[in-house]
Amino acid sequence: METPAIPADRPEYLAMENIARTLTVALGERDPHTRHHCERVIRLAAELGSHIRLDSSELKLLSLGARFHDIGKIGVPDRILGKPAPYEADEWIVMKQHPLIGERIIMAIGASHSPKVAQAVRHHHENYDGSGYPDGLAGEAIPLLSRVISLVDNYDAMAEQRPYHKARRHSDVMDVMHREVGTKHDPELMRAFSAMIEKSEMRVRQD
Ligand SMILES: [Fe+2]
Repeated sequence: METPAIPADRPEYLAMENIARTLTVALGERDPHTRHHCERVIRLAAELGSHIRLDSSELKLLSLGARFHDIGKIGVPDRILGKPAPYEADEWIVMKQHPLIGERIIMAIGASHSPKVAQAVRHHHENYDGSGYPDGLAGEAIPLLSRVISLVDNYDAMAEQRPYHKARRHSDVMDVMHREVGTKHDPELMRAFSAMIEKSEMRVRQD
């Protein structure tokens, strides 16, 4: 069944926006890094979503999905969330739960469009070739909103400084992403992103 259009002034949409904002602040209290990353992902997702001409109701759902995408990290223990080094195998197992925790949180809101937002969040770490998680979906079986969030999430994650890697220059990030087209990234979306990011204020520094 088609998801009905969501007017921006509809009380239920505004309520969900407020809940999303509140939960983002809660997550930010535990992990300021994730919150700032999340704000950038929201902006990048909105730009890519507009560039590929999603309609206004899809853009609203995308915005909620982007805002909520890592909310499940609220359920990941501090020793893993704040670890200043790459994860061990057992820590990855825990970290890989965050899309599923996020899905449960969003479904608990019980709004009519919760399922679509929850679905976007559940699948934001799937890879185009089926090698991602949690379900190993491939190609267009991965919801479009998840593919958009995944792409911009990757750009921002590589462009920013993390405890275990330095911030990369824009061209270095793009080189890595181009090498991952077809494995990690949707080729068509990557083409759209490449065109969009060159003119975007969200493009990171080059030197
Ligand atoms: Fe994530």
